[in-house]
Amino acid sequence: MSTETGYTLDQFLADTRATIKTKGIPSGLAEIRDHLERLLHNPELLKKHLGDPVPYRERTTIGHDPETDVHVLVHGREKGGKSAPHDHGPCWVIYGNYKNPTRMRRWRRLDDGSKAGHAELEVQREFLNEPGHAAVFAVGDIHSIEYGDDTFFLRVTGGDVESKKTLRFDVDKKTVHVADRALGQR
Ligand SMILES: [Fe+2]
Repeated sequence: MSTETGYTLDQFLADTRATIKTKGIPSGLAEIRDHLERLLHNPELLKKHLGDPVPYRERTTIGHDPETDVHVLVHGREKGGKSAPHDHGPCWVIYGNYKNPTRMRRWRRLDDGSKAGHAELEVQREFLNEPGHAAVFAVGDIHSIEYGDDTFFLRVTGGDVESKKTLRFDVDKKTVHVADRALGQR
């Protein structure tokens, strides 16, 4: 739809603010995902906020709403890569692909967390998040991402993940540690 392609970052932040006010979190997360999918269909989005040609940058904040503390980041990866399974501490997150897909994995924790530093995970769900699509992870949901070359995706979070303590898992070693992202730990 031609009307969909002009959906802007400001409209996204305003619609997300309205959703949070009317539905709250986590009830409103699916609706915010829908707003994000509209934003992903704006062909000018990255040119407008990052420049033309669009540069590869690991992490750029392009939007923030002080009222709701919603952050919108763009991740532009020239080379393929993957993350370890992690959560986002006290933040919810919605990942939306803009160019090329990301393989998303959702993980289930099998142990009860009673043994410090120990964690056992198994894959709960795995899917390809195609361009134009977004995937919701509520507070505490453990996930990991894997992408190929030339992948751009948006990450929308409730709160600033990069100032928070998050959990980082090693599936093979069956370990977990706290990463303080404010100190650059990941
Ligand atoms: Fe994440």
